[in-house]
Amino acid sequence: MLRDSDYPLALGVLTERLNFHRSGPVTTGGFQTFEVDLSEWSLSLTHATPCIWVKEADLLAQPPAQLMLSLRDVARERTWQNAIILLFVDGTVDALRPHVPPTTPKFVFVEREDQRLIAQADSPSRLMLDILMRQVPRAQLAPYESSRPVFGSRFFGRDKEINRIMSHSDRSYLVLGLRRAGKTSLLKEVQRRLNAADPVGRGQTRRFYLDCTVIDSEEEFYRALAVGLDPLHQKELMREGGRATRYRKLMFDRFYSLHGGMITFLIDEIDRLLGRIGDEATLLDVMRSASSDESSGHPKARFILSGFRLAMNASNSRDSAWNFAESMELGSLMRSDVTKMIVGPLGGLRISIENQAGVVRRIHRETAGLPHYIQLYCQGLLELLDHEQRDVLREDDLNYVYQSESFQDYILESFKLEAIPEEKAIVYALIAELGDRQQLYTQRMMDDLLKERGVSLKGDVLDNSCRNLTLAGVFNRVGINYEFAVPIFQQILRETRDVELLLEKSLGEIDINAMLV
Ligand SMILES: Nc1ncnc2c1ncn2[C@@H]1O[C@H](COP(=O)(O)OP(=O)(O)O)[C@@H](O)[C@H]1O
Ligand SMILES: [Mg+2]
Repeated sequence: MLRDSDYPLALGVLTERLNFHRSGPVTTGGFQTFEVDLSEWSLSLTHATPCIWVKEADLLAQPPAQLMLSLRDVARERTWQNAIILLFVDGTVDALRPHVPPTTPKFVFVEREDQRLIAQADSPSRLMLDILMRQVPRAQLAPYESSRPVFGSRFFGRDKEINRIMSHSDRSYLVLGLRRAGKTSLLKEVQRRLNAADPVGRGQTRRFYLDCTVIDSEEEFYRALAVGLDPLHQKELMREGGRATRYRKLMFDRFYSLHGGMITFLIDEIDRLLGRIGDEATLLDVMRSASSDESSGHPKARFILSGFRLAMNASNSRDSAWNFAESMELGSLMRSDVTKMIVGPLGGLRISIENQAGVVRRIHRETAGLPHYIQLYCQGLLELLDHEQRDVLREDDLNYVYQSESFQDYILESFKLEAIPEEKAIVYALIAELGDRQQLYTQRMMDDLLKERGVSLKGDVLDNSCRNLTLAGVFNRVGINYEFAVPIFQQILRETRDVELLLEKSLGEIDINAMLV
């Protein structure tokens, strides 16, 4: 048990009185540092929000500019450069303010008087939030993040998928989703929750994440596992292993005993690896065998794989090489998740929403429920409110984001990057030929339009394209019909691009294997 004087007054109130989880102290650069779990506030503050204690002696020991420089070094050393860092200061901070870094990390001062008030407050959280909001722009304090995978307090929804993975602790899964659907985020969040629910001993790893984007061969795949899980015997493992499947399997037995239990391998972007190795059969065979319980009654490993096109084709083809993993598709978030993503953080930032249900409904519809679109949308709204210094969000404000060039470009660019030629051709043909006249489209309509242009797609290609376009949030399926999911999609395309030309180009790029000839 720490004594009062062993950590800053206000931090003590948060962790002792309010039971926010804390770790530390860890001494870095001569300062005592801590991490506190403030994820409950639904802001950008994570489950390990960094804190540094600046004692009275530190204020006296160095001039303010030097002190701030030392604190920046602490942040570097702890790799907190992109974080919001709470500085609990036993004194006043006016002299320090001019020396805070202009960008990151974001230092938030909690000075002596603030700490005293927090200790006396009926609601220390509320006061702490006041202090944060005075010093950090709301756009930065919000948990929205559109350029990196998200987990912890920045992760929303996907309860069904996560519960499935968590509650069947020895099953393997194949998570299917397009670029930016949230695959990496899901894998990282699962890893975090598994580690929290079942902590492992020192030096042990029972959830191992590997991104295959950087893996070029099967050999390299195994090496990455060996480096991560048994670095001391890496060389032997690779040498003994050779290319024999039997030895590869033994590797998993070894990891199992070394780390005291079954290991969950989170293998991201398996498509990339499959695309590079000619024959996927042996890799899948090893995974199947390592994750089956044939010999011992319980599996040594399980795999949570993520991927899209290759993986999806393979799992569709009922190829038995894949059937060790159950597949799940990542599409849109549910309306209730969208509500959480909008209402929780805005509430935390004390922004009230006029006609909340209407606002949520509209954002859900206009983003097709895709998390990365919602993120951009929310960020745009907060920037607007920050800019105009307002505390009330009105439905009208949504037009500002929806009609902004950057949001529209983002939607079109995502589509262009993601879709393959036959999918593009379908979309461009509908827009070029039918314009606004038609709202619901059948596969027959699509087929006819493409045939008029001399292209006849194979039946399963047409059907798969519609399914992918639905997953990608371009289409909604309505019975046997399809409609554009993001209402302005057609309009932006027609107003800002030469759709006829785009159609011609994509028709020319369709793979011969997708067509009836
Ligand atoms: N569950 C989620 N909650 C909130 N935002 C999400 C979630 N999943 C994805 N996102 C948003 O989508 C973006 C892309 O997610 P990411 O996991 O990198 O996708 P992928 O790995 O499928 O390409 C993230 O930066 C984030 O903005
Ligand atoms: Mg990813």
